[in-house]
Amino acid sequence: MSQLQNDTFLRALCREPVPYTPVWLMRQAGRYLPEYCATRKVAGSFLQLCKNTELATEVTLQPLERYPLDAAILFSDILTVPDAMGLGLYFAEGEGPKFERPLRDERDILALTVPDVGTELRYVTDAVSSIRKALNGRVPLIGFSGSPFTLACYMIEGAGSATFSRVKTMLYDRPDLLHHILDVNARTVIDYLNAQIEAGAQAVQIFDTWGGALAYGKYQEFSLNYMKQVIAGLKREHDGRKVPVIVFTKGGGLWLEDIANSGCDAVGLDWTVDLADARRRIGDKVALQGNFDPNALFANPAAIESEVDRLLASFGEGEGHVFNLGHGISQFTNPDHVTTLVDSVHNLSQKYHQIHK
Ligand code: CP3
Repeated sequence: MSQLQNDTFLRALCREPVPYTPVWLMRQAGRYLPEYCATRKVAGSFLQLCKNTELATEVTLQPLERYPLDAAILFSDILTVPDAMGLGLYFAEGEGPKFERPLRDERDILALTVPDVGTELRYVTDAVSSIRKALNGRVPLIGFSGSPFTLACYMIEGAGSATFSRVKTMLYDRPDLLHHILDVNARTVIDYLNAQIEAGAQAVQIFDTWGGALAYGKYQEFSLNYMKQVIAGLKREHDGRKVPVIVFTKGGGLWLEDIANSGCDAVGLDWTVDLADARRRIGDKVALQGNFDPNALFANPAAIESEVDRLLASFGEGEGHVFNLGHGISQFTNPDHVTTLVDSVHNLSQKYHQIHK
């Protein structure tokens, strides 16, 4: 594999010195880019795009052609995992993801097993290898998975949900059943992320999008514990280099100490968190990633730049910050505003790093 030309992202995750703060964006390949929409049309559908190695590679690289981002992220989706378990993922036009066979009765839940990742999710690891080749050492490639709990939310509800009432009913009525699903999910996520690492993913992120919906104590028991199990099962080094693990619990700001103790290398922060406070609390243990409000990208370029400035000052001098959004980029974002964001992170952050002084 070719030598990395830009390893600022991996260095920042290890809290090592970098000349500027590296930046990438959650959902950086997506519908806000007209070239993404064009490729998706060629593929026919979102799922066909994920399953087509060549086109998945193409869309992964599209944001890097436009912006000097410091990392690429595998183009795929967290819901490929329950799909591989046989739940039948589909996307109803304009309605988001759905499952044909959600987990509703005890018999189906107890029949759930770990799929053979090597065959059922081969298209994902094929995409990882192909993207690494196409990147040719430009920037590192991030692999990812949903957290066991976030996957369970979609598997039980059968779609997105505003309330997660089915999941929460099961959590309080039949915790044994939810624990069974989470255990199968955790073992699957371990296999899945290790397969991505072996195929060439140089860092991995666990997306715990819905962990923040849980009550205190329930978060630790039903989401964090299973992420800990996943992290403990991961290959942490590949090709002679550490493979950092990032945990992102949206809405996890109250539980940062617990998250930082999960064994991860970096904690993703949504926009509700004060970066300076987060650094004081856990910055001696882990790197921090985030926490720009994605909706601030709707504002004018001067406002975007001043918000970037505020966040960089909030983290302050020193190492261990990866700039990112606090959640995925909106499909209604003006692509030119992303240019402003990325350029201002690179320019304004230099004064906070020793290498540049
Ligand atoms: O970040 C990237 O560029 C890599 C690709 C990526 C996608 N989904 C592509 C996608 C990643 C990392 C994800 C993660 C994901 N998927 C999460 C966790 C992060 C988060 O946003 O909370 C979740 C919850 C999902 C499930 C999912 N997939 C939903 C809820 C939706 C529909 C809502 C939406 O934003 O459209 C998807 C579809 C999806 N995944 C799209 C993309 C680019 C849009 C599909 C399209 O082209 O129509």
